Amino acid sequence: MNDGAPRGERLGDLVRGAATVASQTDLEDLLEATVVAGMEVTGASYGALGVLGEHGNLIQFSYRGIDDETANKIGALPQGHGVLGLISREGKSYLLDNIAAHPDAVGFPDHHPHMDTFLGVPVRAGDRLFGNLYLTNKPEGFTELDQSLVEALAEIAGSAVLSIRLQSRLRRLAVVEDRERIARDIHDAIIQELFAMGLELQATAQRSDDAEIQATLRDHAERLDRTIQSLRQLIFDLRRPPTEQRDLRAEIDDLVTRLGSARRTKVQVTYNGIFAGITESTIDDVLQLVREALSNALRHSGAETISVAISAGDDTVGIEVRDDGRGFDLAVEEPGLGLSSMGSRTDRAGGTLRIATAPGEGTVVTMTVPL
Ligand SMILES: Nc1ncnc2c1ncn2[C@@H]1O[C@H](COP(=O)(O)OP(=O)(O)OP(=O)(O)O)[C@@H](O)[C@H]1O
Ligand SMILES: [Mg+2]
Repeated sequence: MNDGAPRGERLGDLVRGAATVASQTDLEDLLEATVVAGMEVTGASYGALGVLGEHGNLIQFSYRGIDDETANKIGALPQGHGVLGLISREGKSYLLDNIAAHPDAVGFPDHHPHMDTFLGVPVRAGDRLFGNLYLTNKPEGFTELDQSLVEALAEIAGSAVLSIRLQSRLRRLAVVEDRERIARDIHDAIIQELFAMGLELQATAQRSDDAEIQATLRDHAERLDRTIQSLRQLIFDLRRPPTEQRDLRAEIDDLVTRLGSARRTKVQVTYNGIFAGITESTIDDVLQLVREALSNALRHSGAETISVAISAGDDTVGIEVRDDGRGFDLAVEEPGLGLSSMGSRTDRAGGTLRIATAPGEGTVVTMTVPL
């Protein structure tokens, strides 16, 4: 907005934008706040933040400046090719007067607004590249001051991403830890106290020579005993983690053993991340998806090795089933129940499904299920 404005005022814009970014507790809101702050600090007409997946592909794209109608006409979100991909690959900022003139440019799809001046800055979360912040169309062109302000903004956005991830991890662990703590407190403080009280009641009863009082005291002591018994049961229940009957890793291990045992194909399973506190319905979805993808690989691929990788992230469970078998042509192959049920299940759960395969090249099925 304020290119001609003095440096101090522009720093003020940055600090205000950064404060908004840093105060977000939801990742989606954080992306949006970062884009808005980037545009306000520089005076860009368009802004976007692309989040990168494990393989460097764009998995999320939060943008501003293009209305819904135009966005619908453009269709698919950018894939992260061209200049956008360049920033991810090189992990450094780019400041261009004309994005279309860059040798890496791949051109814009139909209906895409004209874009010329460009500033792209990588956003790091810890030591990993999280995504890239893109700003375009500042009439006077972006300056080096813009670049350093946006780089500072990107740094703050990156640490805010880390903090949101940490919080969600802690929340999940907290559920487990709270139960442990309550169980311990009940045991240490309450049961011991009740137990001591019971012993005193019995001792008092013994000392008394009034039969009626003795009977009453013994009666109280028995009630205390029963209370202690039910508290012990409560502790036992609390100590079982919320997912006790459902341990996702154990269930996947079972499934893989059951499906794979009759075959010579080697199936390797790896787990990554924190599996505590995953809900029943997510566990069901993940198991079913692994079952479909793995049984396809076992039945159709003729693979020597199949690897199943399950990673519990902060807000999704990722599933990858990879075989080194014959692969197939997605366009030609009649989808059976398996492929379509994987699609509808991931859709229903708000997750994603990607099948990378070609005849002679093996198959990789990648799925995510939100937590
Ligand atoms: N990992 C794979 N390797 C080779 N071909 C595969 C693989 N997965 C699927 N296919 C091909 O895609 C087809 C469709 O798979 P899909 O799971 O939808 O149906 P299906 O396995 O034939 O039957 P269903 O799953 O209903 O028992 C399969 O018949 C097979 O030809
Ligand atoms: Mg199948």
